[in-house]
Amino acid sequence: MKTIQLKVNENVDNSENYTQAVDYLNNGEVVAFPTETVYGLGAVATDEQAVQKIFAAKQRPSDNPLIVHIGTVEEVTLYTEGIPEVAKKCMDAFWPGPLTLILEAKPNLLAPSVTAGLTTVGVRMPNHAVALQLLQTIQKPIAAPSANRSGKPSPTKASHVYEDLAGSIPCILDGGMTGIGVESTVLDVTITPPVILRPGGVTKEMLEEVIGPVLEPNFEQQKIESTPKAPGMKYTHYAPNAPVYLIEPERALIERAINQLQQQQHKVALLAPVHFNDIEVDTYLSFGDANDIEQMSALLYDALRACDKTDATVILATTTSQQGVGRAVMNRLEKAAGGNWYK
Ligand code: TXA
Ligand code: MG
Repeated sequence: MKTIQLKVNENVDNSENYTQAVDYLNNGEVVAFPTETVYGLGAVATDEQAVQKIFAAKQRPSDNPLIVHIGTVEEVTLYTEGIPEVAKKCMDAFWPGPLTLILEAKPNLLAPSVTAGLTTVGVRMPNHAVALQLLQTIQKPIAAPSANRSGKPSPTKASHVYEDLAGSIPCILDGGMTGIGVESTVLDVTITPPVILRPGGVTKEMLEEVIGPVLEPNFEQQKIESTPKAPGMKYTHYAPNAPVYLIEPERALIERAINQLQQQQHKVALLAPVHFNDIEVDTYLSFGDANDIEQMSALLYDALRACDKTDATVILATTTSQQGVGRAVMNRLEKAAGGNWYK
C-alpha cells in the first residue's frame, strides 16, 4: 500500500485534503492526523472492519481499547450514558483539550473492538485545528490510538508516523509538530473519587480545582492488583531499541555513569537538558531547557525516537521536575525505562 502525506495548515485552504481524508475514512480506511498531544491513527468508530485495520497497522493487542474522538461536546451524549456531574464539569473546563474521560458506553453503538469488550469507553474532544476540522467535516466519531507501532514512543511529527506505518496505512494528514508532546490525561469518572489512569497535560491539581479529590496512583501503586488501570498500561511503552536507564540530573553522576558504561564497551546516548550538552558521550540528545517542562514534554518522544537512529547500546535519560506536565513526562520516562535506574 502506498502512504500519501497531505500537508494541512491553518493559514491556507486545505479543503481538498480534508475531503480526501474524509473519503478514506468513509470508505472504511484509516487516516493518521495530528492532535494537540500526539498524532492519532483514526477510523470511523462505528465501523468494526475499519477499526480492526487500526489494530492490524499498529500491531496493537486486541484487549487494549481505543479513545473515541468527537468534534463537539454535545456528541458525547450520543455514545455514552449516565454521565456523572463531575464529568460534565470536566468537559466544561477542559474540552476541547488533552483530557480523556472514561464513561459508560451506550450498548451496541460503537464497534466492539473500540471498547475491547469493556462496558466503558474513553472519549475526548481534541484541541487542534486539524483534528477538529476533520471531525467536524466527517461528523462521525473517530476512534484513534496514538499513530505509532505498538510499544514505540508516540508520534509528535508526521515523519514519525511515516517511519512506523508507511506501507500499512493509506494517508497521513501532516499538520506539523504537535504541541504538548505526551498523550492526554485519562480520567476514570465511573468511580468515586475519579482516578487518573494516565497522567497528561491536564494535571491532578487542575482537575481537583474543578471537581475536588482525584486519585493519582504512582508508578509503584500501579503495580498493585487492586489499583484501577487502563488495559494498555500492562504493555511495554515508549521504548527505543536500546535499554533506557533513568539518572538524576547531576553532572558528576552522569559523567561517572558514562565512563563506567563505556568501559563495558557500551555506546551511550545521553538524553539530558541543554546545560549538559558539553558532557563527553557517544551521542547527546537535547531534552530542552530544564526550567521549561512544556518544552521537555514536546521534545521527549522525538528524542527517544532519535536514539534508534544512533548506534547506542544504552540510553541514559535524566529525570525531570514533576510540576505540571512534568508528572506525565516522568511517567513516560519510567515506562520507557521499565522502572530501571542507573546505579
Ligand atoms: O492524547 C491521546 O490520548 C492520543 C491522541 C491520539 O488522542 N491517543 C492515545 O491513545 O494516546 P492510546 O490508544 O495510545 O492510549 C489510550 C489509553 C490506553 O492506555 C487504553 O488502555 C486506555 O487509554 N483506555 C481506552 N479506553 C479505556 C477504557 N474504557 N477504560 C480504561 N482505559 C481505557
Ligand atoms: Mg499509545
